[in-house]
This record gives sequence, C-alpha cells and structure tokens, in this order.
Amino acid sequence: MPPMAAAVGGAEEVRNVAHYVLSLSNSPHDSVRAQLGKSKFAACAACHGATGKGNPAIGAPNLTDDTGCTAGASRPSSTSSTTARSTRCRRRRGS
Ligand code: HEC
Repeated sequence: MPPMAAAVGGAEEVRNVAHYVLSLSNSPHDSVRAQLGKSKFAACAACHGATGKGNPAIGAPNLTDDTGCTAGASRPSSTSSTTARSTRCRRRRGS
C-alpha cells in the first residue's frame, strides 16, 4: 500500500482516520475521532471502496472484517504511527 499520510493530512488526521477504520470492523476505537476521520477516508476509498469492503482486483483488503490485523493494529490509547507500523499485518489474503 502507498504511504497515505500526505493525502490524509497531518498526524492528527492520520490518527482520526485510523479510528474510523477501526470502527468499520467494530474494533475498539474513539468514536469522536472516528467521526472526524470519516471524511478523510475518501482518500482510501479509491482502493478500499467507499464502505471499506476492499477491492480484490488490486489486492486492497476488506477493512470491515475483524478477523485480521486491523482489529488489533492500533490501540486507541496509544495510537501512533510507530505503533501502527510495528504491529502492521503481513497477512495476505487468498482471493
Ligand atoms: C492505491 C490504493 C490504496 C489506497 C489509496 C489505500 N490503500 Fe490501504 N491497502 C492497499 C493495498 C493494496 C493493501 C494490501 C497490501 C499492502 O498492505 O500493501 C492495503 C492494506 C491496508 C490495510 C491492512 C488491512 C489488512 O487487513 O491487511 C489497512 C488497515 C489499510 N490498507 C488502510 C488504508 C487507509 C486508512 C487508507 C487511506 C488513508 C488506505 N488504506 C488507502 C491499497 C490502498
């Protein structure tokens, strides 16, 4: 996946959109941040779809299931890009 921070904004915006993505899979998230991040998801929707369901044609994973790394990828209390990166999921889906 391409680096997306520049398309989203600053560190705060990245954090907000991360909480929005967590909300898609009913993972623990900050609902205020998720609301703020929602509009920024437009930058992600090109690949992951407007509802985050993914696009197998380009290998963009479904972000709404809670079976994978997204669920535990970032802890709302300590969401930092470092944390998110270090716990990044390397799993590949067969499709
Ligand atoms: C240019 C297409 C593209 C855009 C734009 C994009 N993604 Fe992705 N994303 C991918 C692809 C392809 C993968 C899987 C391969 C990889 O991780 O590099 C992925 C993987 C992910 C994963 C890991 C999911 C999992 O279950 O493995 C997350 C989370 C994610 N993207 C979130 C986002 C967010 C949030 C944005 C917007 C800020 C975004 N993506 C924008 C293409 C994209």
